[in-house]
Amino acid sequence: MPTSTPPIFPTLATAIPTTAADAWARRTDDTPRPLALALIISSVRAGRLGPTVAGWFADRAGDRDDIHLDVLDLAEFPLPADMAVAPDTPSERLVRALGERLAAADGFVVVTPEYNHSYPAALKHLIDTYREQWFAKPVGFISYGGMSGGLRAVEHLRAVFAEQHAVTVRDVVSFHGAGAADFAADGRATTGAAPAAAAALLDRMGWWGRALRRARTVEPFQS
Ligand SMILES: Cc1cc2nc3c(=O)[nH]c(=O)nc-3n(C[C@H](O)[C@H](O)[C@H](O)COP(=O)(O)O)c2cc1C
Repeated sequence: MPTSTPPIFPTLATAIPTTAADAWARRTDDTPRPLALALIISSVRAGRLGPTVAGWFADRAGDRDDIHLDVLDLAEFPLPADMAVAPDTPSERLVRALGERLAAADGFVVVTPEYNHSYPAALKHLIDTYREQWFAKPVGFISYGGMSGGLRAVEHLRAVFAEQHAVTVRDVVSFHGAGAADFAADGRATTGAAPAAAAALLDRMGWWGRALRRARTVEPFQS
C-alpha cells in the first residue's frame, strides 16, 4: 500500500490506491466528452455588433477539440415578457426549446455590450426566465462598449448570476471602443491582446466547467 496523499474518497481508496487528484477524476467523470458551452449573444437591436464579436470568439473556440459551442442568439428567442405561457403555444415551445439548450450546457459564455452602464434588458430577461439551468455552472464574459469596454455590464452580471447559483470566472475578454473593423482579418481583435485573452478564458472555462460537471455528477445541486 503506497503512502501517498490521504484519499478524498475512502471507499475508492481501498479499491484503487492512488493520489487524491486521481481518485477524484476516476470517481466522478469517466466520460471525456468535450465541454458544452452555450455562447449567448445578448444584444438584439437592429445593426448590433454582437454577432460579429460572437463570431470572432466562436472561431477561436473552433480550434479546440475540448470545447463544443452552441450559439444562442437572443434575437432568435423573443421570450414572453410576462413569463406566463399557455401550454402548447408557440411561446411555450420557444421557452422550452431554449431551456433545453441551456440545460444541456456545461457552462455559458455571455457576449454582452454595455448599455447605460449595464447590460441589455434581453439578457436580464433570459437570466430571470430560467432557474436550475444556471445552477452550479460557470459563466464567462466577452464584453464590448465604449470607454469601459463593457466591464461595468460584466460587474453587474456577476451579482445577478450569483443569485442563480452560477459561478462567474475572473478572466474576461473586453473590447474598448469596439467596431466591426476590429474584427476584420487585419483588425486589432486579431493582432492585439484579444486572442490570448480568449484562449485564457477558454482554459478557465474548461477548468471550472469540468470541475463543476464532476461535482454535479457526484452530488446533484439543490436549491
Ligand atoms: C442604448 C445604448 C446605451 C449605451 N450605453 C453605453 C454606456 O453606458 N457605456 C458605453 O461604454 N457604451 C454604451 N453604448 C455603446 C455600446 O456599448 C456599443 O454601441 C455597442 O457596440 C452596442 O452593442 P450592440 O451593437 O451589440 O448593440 C450604448 C449603446 C446603446 C445603443
